[in-house]
Amino acid sequence: MNGRELPIIQFEDRPGILDLGWGHPCPSLLPVAEWQKATQATMEQFGWQVLTYGYATGPGPLIEWLSGHVSKAENAVIDPSQFFITAGASHALELISAVLAEPQDVVLVDSPTYHFALRILRDHGLEIVKAPTDDDGIDPAALDELLASLLSRGRRVPMLYIVPTFGNPTGRSLPSHRRCELVQMARRTGLTVVEDDTYRELVYQGTVPTSLWRLADGEGVVRIGSFSKTVAPGLRLGWINAAPGIVRRLASLGYVDSGGGINHATALTMATFGTSGTYGQHVAHVRGEYRLRRDTLVGALRNSLPDLHVPSPAGGWFVWLPLPPGMTASVLLRKAESLGVSFVPGTLFYADAQGGYNHVRLSFSLLTPPQLIMAAERLTEAIQAVS
Ligand SMILES: Cc1ncc(COP(=O)(O)O)c(C=O)c1O
Repeated sequence: MNGRELPIIQFEDRPGILDLGWGHPCPSLLPVAEWQKATQATMEQFGWQVLTYGYATGPGPLIEWLSGHVSKAENAVIDPSQFFITAGASHALELISAVLAEPQDVVLVDSPTYHFALRILRDHGLEIVKAPTDDDGIDPAALDELLASLLSRGRRVPMLYIVPTFGNPTGRSLPSHRRCELVQMARRTGLTVVEDDTYRELVYQGTVPTSLWRLADGEGVVRIGSFSKTVAPGLRLGWINAAPGIVRRLASLGYVDSGGGINHATALTMATFGTSGTYGQHVAHVRGEYRLRRDTLVGALRNSLPDLHVPSPAGGWFVWLPLPPGMTASVLLRKAESLGVSFVPGTLFYADAQGGYNHVRLSFSLLTPPQLIMAAERLTEAIQAVS
């Protein structure tokens, strides 16, 4: 083992580099003491039931709290039969791909879009095709035409993947008229829209857009939720909202029959975290902290790079920064890393790598405000040096 310790976490610290690349939470904002308390209370309340196989769709106390929480937030009634607990949003997409699609099917994706979602879809042998977009995001009328042409060529197109609210990597949200058109188009054609709603609760200004799930009344849309950004990614906990028929198919998967509900002990602890009021307090706290981090990074970059358009996302964790004309993210990355700052180049968020050359994704979630200021200084120096 060369005397080296085996790793514990995914994050790899690169000494000397302030990394704006990772979409990870700031360690000091993880609810260590609160989770410990919830764990103790859960063990006291549920005893051995915490430690045995869980109910297939997720433990009742979590589904009950979560359906109440989500219904209230969206001013809708979302029935417990429309929930399936997963090991996070990534796992939810993995499961939905397995249930809805077959190898060689076409899956349509927004672009740019969450780069690791593309990886999950590829794992299933799916052909990824970019949905048509314009400045407002996905264009449902053009999408309709593309879908018709794919179907006329005998292709199966079971689903479209999109992060319509505070998207990764852009931080932008699909405008409401486009949401309605997309939902109508999906209903008319039978295309299932997979709505990755991971950032819904991290809203920093204004109101959060109505979900596609809500607009569609739960028909033709599968919505993915996660506790990774609101509470902690190490919990590996999230959920799927889907029509009861899809929930039943998920619940009857062999490995659920064999292993019971997913991540049962953590799910039951989340129920305590929610019903005790800790979830609400914690999310309010981190929302304020991430807003501060957004303002710090955006403010610093706007000051030092007045000629660049630095967008300020209304929610989520990312700034999608356009570079000066003619500058490519890959060239900038080399210079930036030599000056002690890093980011993710825009091309990674395009399924065909044909886009995003002069954009970079900056995540403001991991670093502290003083680190973000320093990272902005280094990035500014790199951009000026490459210009
Ligand atoms: C859009 C999106 N979906 C899913 C995930 C992964 O979420 P989870 O940790 O719940 O698997 C992320 C994390 O960066 C994300 O940005």
